[in-house]
Amino acid sequence: LRIAVLFGGRSTEHEVSVLSATNVLKALEPAKYDAVPIFVTRDGRWLMSRFADGTLSTPETGTELCLVPGGRGHMIAIGTDGRAAEAGKIDILFPVLHGLHGEDGSVQGLADVARVPLAGCGILGSATALDKVIAKQLLRASGLPVARAVTIGEDAVPDLAMLENAIGLPFFVKPARQGSSVGVRKISGSQEFLPAVTEGFRHDRRLLAEEFIQGREIEFSVLEDSTGDVFVSRPGEITPSASHGFYSYDAKYIDQHGATLKVPAELPPDVEAEMRKMAAEAFRALGCDGMARVDFFLTADMTIIVNEVNTIPGFTDISMYSRAMAASGVSYADIIERLIAHGLG
Ligand code: DAL
Ligand code: MG
Repeated sequence: LRIAVLFGGRSTEHEVSVLSATNVLKALEPAKYDAVPIFVTRDGRWLMSRFADGTLSTPETGTELCLVPGGRGHMIAIGTDGRAAEAGKIDILFPVLHGLHGEDGSVQGLADVARVPLAGCGILGSATALDKVIAKQLLRASGLPVARAVTIGEDAVPDLAMLENAIGLPFFVKPARQGSSVGVRKISGSQEFLPAVTEGFRHDRRLLAEEFIQGREIEFSVLEDSTGDVFVSRPGEITPSASHGFYSYDAKYIDQHGATLKVPAELPPDVEAEMRKMAAEAFRALGCDGMARVDFFLTADMTIIVNEVNTIPGFTDISMYSRAMAASGVSYADIIERLIAHGLG
């Protein structure tokens, strides 16, 4: 089975994607899969990559690849001399891209146009889950509990007093479509507010000012099988170290001691059961299929809040997705096998 793994990409989570994809490549047994790693440059070109000695190459120039529309996986290679050559057929496309231009439905749409099977979540769920404003509206409309929030557009930035009245203080300012907490700031007073808004607008045209929930961060891995049944893992818990204040980009990827993961998280059985049910509901509410990680807050009085849904969750060494699945008896290799079976199914 020839499986194209797309990684890198145009988003701010480019480096995270390289880490995630390296782990995916390590898990793809050569006896079973013919892996075709494709590096997506920061400006969006698809370049032939190589996986050797546990490392994926990330070239800046080289042979470019394209998927032929309607070609059912047929690929063309374009050499640096501009000459096109046959690059064979892939059986399935596995985007390991985080954030915009990869986790947002765009590459998923390309798979559909190329008529090639896709591993993971499809167009609709990818697009809705990646946009925090839209996702919140859909989750709320499905009766799921979400944090209070106010949408901020470039033409109408509310003043701090209005926001404090609506969602309390402190609160978060988040770009609508970003992952890994890029561009996210915690606001405790007026000095922080306008710089946070300016920073947020560097990433997107719409921001979300969102209530700060004092609680534990609990996450579930969701994996759909080819019959449409949704499997929800045991819970994992993330405790960001006190020095980071929240689970920021640095706490996630830069600081080795930025956060502690506990899998499975210790929860009262009825609370875990309720959250697992909600994880499946959130997955469905956003129109997801294939896979996602559903993130929650759980307050001291056991109030459950759905935070967000990530359709291409991190697959790095510290990744919760695979650890929560492992705690539920599904190995990393099984996850990939099931994703491929789902895509081909
Ligand atoms: N956006 C990162 C990769 C995650 O959700 O794990
Ligand atoms: Mg995220």
